[in-house]
Amino acid sequence: MTKSFRIKSFGCQMNVYDGERMAELLGDKGMTEAKDGEDADLVVLNTCHIREKAAEKAYSDVGRLKKTDGTRPMIALAGCVAQAEGSEAQRRSDAIDIVVGPQAYHRLPELIEGASKGLRPVDTDMPAISKFDAMPARSKVGPSAFLTVAEGCDKFCTYCVVPYTRGAEISRPWADIVAEAESLVDRGAREITLLGQNVSAWSGENEKGQTGGLELLVRRLAKIDGLERIRYTTSHPADMDEGLIAAHGEVDKLMPYLHLPVQAGSDRILKAMNRHHTAESYLKLIERFRAARPDMAISGDFIVGFPGETDAEFEETLAIVDAVRYASAYSFKYSPRPGTPAAQMEDQIEPAVMDERLQRLQSRISAHSLDFNRSKVGETMSILIERQGKRPGQMIGKSPWLQSVFVETDAPIGTMIDVKIEQALPNSLGGRLKEKVAA
Ligand code: 5AD
Ligand code: SF4
Repeated sequence: MTKSFRIKSFGCQMNVYDGERMAELLGDKGMTEAKDGEDADLVVLNTCHIREKAAEKAYSDVGRLKKTDGTRPMIALAGCVAQAEGSEAQRRSDAIDIVVGPQAYHRLPELIEGASKGLRPVDTDMPAISKFDAMPARSKVGPSAFLTVAEGCDKFCTYCVVPYTRGAEISRPWADIVAEAESLVDRGAREITLLGQNVSAWSGENEKGQTGGLELLVRRLAKIDGLERIRYTTSHPADMDEGLIAAHGEVDKLMPYLHLPVQAGSDRILKAMNRHHTAESYLKLIERFRAARPDMAISGDFIVGFPGETDAEFEETLAIVDAVRYASAYSFKYSPRPGTPAAQMEDQIEPAVMDERLQRLQSRISAHSLDFNRSKVGETMSILIERQGKRPGQMIGKSPWLQSVFVETDAPIGTMIDVKIEQALPNSLGGRLKEKVAA
């Protein structure tokens, strides 16, 4: 019998959300989450397939779960590696008892039962009926909660596995999202981040039969009492519409932060990536957001060393970083993924060249992050307290621009307090309670 479980999630925020939902599901079936340091009867590895390193981590983690005396917990491989590899995963490692894809995890209890009987179940179906319908109500809720509103992607960027691992784009229905948001707020969430691999493609129909995109949903959720902040991620430049841009200037609860990956600065590379935008159209879009909301913080994702990328083309990536002045950004070395068109392209770039480009890009991004953080010194801003810091009396919260803010306060987790910023580091801010400043 499996009684206790542990879920380890890797990869994107959608995996974090899925991990929380699986924990709620198993809890609902009478299992308990193992405490830190305690052995669990079942370990769920909720994996990521986006780059080779992330995917390989899944297998090294399986290996690490085997103890020296030969015993091990029941192991379920979940997430995107499970989806991509299916039963092949069990051929690679005989310790994997269950393989369950991201669209099938609502069936985890049955799969566990099968595995307890010695079967090695594999479920990578993408059923038409939403897994969400089969899930219990939300229970694991912090002050800042994730809510998946869309899944999958139809964009087919040539480097990316997501359309294969998460399937076609689907939007969750309006009523389900509103109900889940209300239940999150009832249970203490003050901030909700709407999630989708391509969240900007969300569309749906409201109570009045009006069809619309993310803007309509954001405006509805902003009416929920007790909900203070709304965010959404990740967006695609080709799907951003005027309504959503306008909402940033009009809806106070919609935070001034946008994660809008550009990936590269060269139009030739963007075309080879099948991105459906140019460097110029991207910059114009950023300008429109900043016109609606001048303090908008922009974040992004970059890939260096896409097949065929020349030094001059890489310089264009640096130029776009300077033009946007990112508040933060993630950057990665290109990793060829099985089944994607780019993996077949000629002129794959040497690892040493990628290393050098990545380092240059990251130092350029850090310089802009530090500038952005420094621009907040002296400002008083509202912080949502999320967790305790390392030092006694220290708490860590988030600014409207998604910066981590360290502050000494006895304000409990989940409260919002005004903090005067006194210090800026590349990845965080330090501040003091506003009333203490005056004293
Ligand atoms: N290699 C490197 N980075 C990738 N990403 C997606 N696919 C790959 C790949 N094959 C990056 C993109 C994306 C982010 C989630 O991961 O920048 O926006
Ligand atoms: Fe990784 Fe993409 Fe799957 Fe998220 S959706 S876990 S980023 S492969």
